[in-house]
Amino acid sequence: MRVFKQKEALISQLSAEKINHKTIGLVPTMGALHQGHISLVSRALEKNDLVVVSIFVNPTQFNNPKDLEKYPKSLDKDISLLEELQGQILIFAPSAEEMYQEDIKSEKFDFDGLEFQMEGKFRPGHFDGVGTIIKKLFSIVKPDRAYFGEKDFQQLQIIKKLTEKAQLDVEIIGCPITREASGLAMSSRNERLPDALRKKAAFIYKTISEAKEIFGNQSIQETLDWIDEQFKNHEDFELEYAEIADEKTLKSVKNKKIGEHYRLFVAVYANEIRLIDTIALN
Ligand code: PAJ
Repeated sequence: MRVFKQKEALISQLSAEKINHKTIGLVPTMGALHQGHISLVSRALEKNDLVVVSIFVNPTQFNNPKDLEKYPKSLDKDISLLEELQGQILIFAPSAEEMYQEDIKSEKFDFDGLEFQMEGKFRPGHFDGVGTIIKKLFSIVKPDRAYFGEKDFQQLQIIKKLTEKAQLDVEIIGCPITREASGLAMSSRNERLPDALRKKAAFIYKTISEAKEIFGNQSIQETLDWIDEQFKNHEDFELEYAEIADEKTLKSVKNKKIGEHYRLFVAVYANEIRLIDTIALN
């Protein structure tokens, strides 16, 4: 499997493939790959002749330097996991200098307000960092399709907005959340959870699944109060936010309206490790 560290080498390989009319799928990742990432790559391999998997821990999207420093890195293991798949995969694993040169800074974006909700409120500048790196990756790879997980639902909506506003010719495909057997949403950050805590973290999905039931016959406020109560009673997890939001605008909703689609979003601290999850409510 070829691993490209330099964008010029990747660009020249891809232009040769494009002459042969090969379709290209892109799966952007920050590495420490797990089955959630692999599900995106598998989806991409089904529909495209070749798939570029980028592995790059993007510094500009981290608002917390400790989180960036502790982000797990395992390039060799990531390559082995990808080697188990059938199909043509190119890995792009550049350095920060290769992506940003000397200027490790974000561009500023207007995502029509999507960026001010939830993760945007609690992680200032995060989505400018995501937008910056995705724009760079799109301009290098020029994919026909790019794959993103619903695990980061707000990110997925923001990338769709980025593509629409910049009129980029790429189809954005959202993919369902892959979960551990316990229900915990797979995440590279799960690796940092001690075993006992990782087991207990099944509580997060259990709570949002039950909240979905409650949402079916109680008000939004009652559902949110119930969630608050569950976390207050649990010594291992601290709820940063729980929001019920409109799936399109991501704005929090006070009263249900018929025909609208709602989602529950939570961010939770387990020790100093931040975990997010989401579930469609209707
Ligand atoms: P990362 O957290 O590595 O995730 C890469 C992609 O995998 C994202 O689209 C994410 O939503 C998806 N993903 C992660 N866990 C998943 C799961 N359990 N089920 C399904 N999909 C899952 O998200 C990023 O990296 C970065 O912000 C990035 C888009 C690469 C930009 O730097």
